[in-house]
Amino acid sequence: MPEEPIGVIGAGWVGLATATGFADLGHHVTVRDVTPERVAALSAGVVPIHEPGLAQLLEQNRDRLRFTLELDDVLESARIIFVCVGTPATYSGEADLSAVWGVIDELAGCERELVIVMKSTVPVGTGERVRRRLDERGLAHVGYVSNPEFLAEGTALANFRNPDRVVVGSFAATDGDRVAALYAPLAAPILRTDVASAEMIKLASNAALVTRISFINEIANVCELVGADIEDVARGIGLDRRLGPHFLRAGIGYGGSCFPKDASALKQLAANSGYHFQLLASVIEVNELQKRRVVQKLRDHLGSLHGKTVALLGLTFKPHTDDMREAPSLVLGSRLLAEGAVVRAWDPVARDVQRHFPDGVELAETPLEAVHGADAALIVTEWPELTELVRSEVRDAMRTPLIVDGRNMLDPTAVRAAGFTYEAIGRPSAMVTELNESRNESRLPF
Ligand code: UDX
Ligand code: UDX
Repeated sequence: MPEEPIGVIGAGWVGLATATGFADLGHHVTVRDVTPERVAALSAGVVPIHEPGLAQLLEQNRDRLRFTLELDDVLESARIIFVCVGTPATYSGEADLSAVWGVIDELAGCERELVIVMKSTVPVGTGERVRRRLDERGLAHVGYVSNPEFLAEGTALANFRNPDRVVVGSFAATDGDRVAALYAPLAAPILRTDVASAEMIKLASNAALVTRISFINEIANVCELVGADIEDVARGIGLDRRLGPHFLRAGIGYGGSCFPKDASALKQLAANSGYHFQLLASVIEVNELQKRRVVQKLRDHLGSLHGKTVALLGLTFKPHTDDMREAPSLVLGSRLLAEGAVVRAWDPVARDVQRHFPDGVELAETPLEAVHGADAALIVTEWPELTELVRSEVRDAMRTPLIVDGRNMLDPTAVRAAGFTYEAIGRPSAMVTELNESRNESRLPF
């Protein structure tokens, strides 16, 4: 496939993974971002986000990557421009499209033939509105394609390289052809649709994933009441080929830069179109409650949390990223502080934690330092390092050797054998286990 110079607007997670991915496929890619420090860092080969493998791949493709503040540098060579700017949620739940419109208006000033490719997640109908605005300005020569991203943080490069599918929604088939051709080397299914359907595929895919997460979390909550084990239950569900094993990990709820905002954006989009999306409304509500349920588990063991020290282990919304956007730790930390607890947090890479926790959270360098003298250790993010918790040194350092595993990452038998009280999500509770053990002891045959 002939080399096609590519432009990328927005050097965030999606923009950098996309730019580096295409450079690695042999294309010259010019990336424009409005943040001078970010452009300077990237131009110096420094990657401002924690994404496994990105710095190495960027270095390997250095000669095909250029970072700039100037849109003209992009338009100098590129005719296909990927828009990857942020579309955060507004207070009313809608997506904030101000950055997207800013870029569209800038690009609309360009006389040359161009294809704008929207990778940022936008409400359904945005493409139609962009098309209308371009046509009103006599810019029929500027094409528009919706090409949603499905990159997960922590595995973004692998997701770019081996996508489950590439979705290309276009008004003009020729524009769609040019974008689809860029992905041909990846040998993934390419789904060609109209623009509105491509936009909906993205929002609906994320909505389906969060629905699975809230579903398994509710099943987990019922398991606790009926004495079943969610890990076995999820395995049993996942073996059904009609359902599959993915996204059935129970825990303290989903977070991140995409799921919460895309779920609320879709719910709001439906409402603005006159439809109350009941299921999604419940999925979002279940997730908010799920983040808070572990606080009750702490109270069950410690009583009032006032003056108790709780180690918050893991702050990012998931492992292998430094992203704290909509991380469950934000809600948990604030809840614990509000209950008068002393909160000592640890995370291997989380950025500007103090900005998220203005006052009251102490930061520890290591998990051991965080649990020192603590009444409980609460696992919030399943960082692999936390498997090291299960040792006598940690048990003896704690005031109360209580581990509440919000990600079911540890083995209950091993943790209890090491002398800890252990609680998890949707697994037989320590209280019940201890009660059964004492009942068994009391039922000895003689
Ligand atoms: C973004 C969107 O938020 C998400 O909806 C979409 O699904 C993918 O792209 P992400 O890459 O995580 O997600 O965003 P972020 O990390 O915030 O990066 C956005 C970048 O765009 C930032 O570096 C920002 O400086 C840049 N930007 C923002 C511009 O270059 N121009 C703007 O006008 C606004
Ligand atoms: C997600 C989508 O996976 C990706 O396709 C999309 O492009 C962007 O949003 P990301 O937010 O990076 O990616 O992370 P993901 O791995 O999907 O996890 C999101 C949240 O769901 C995390 O908080 C994670 O802990 C939680 N989760 C995920 C669960 O609680 N249970 C699961 O089974 C899976």
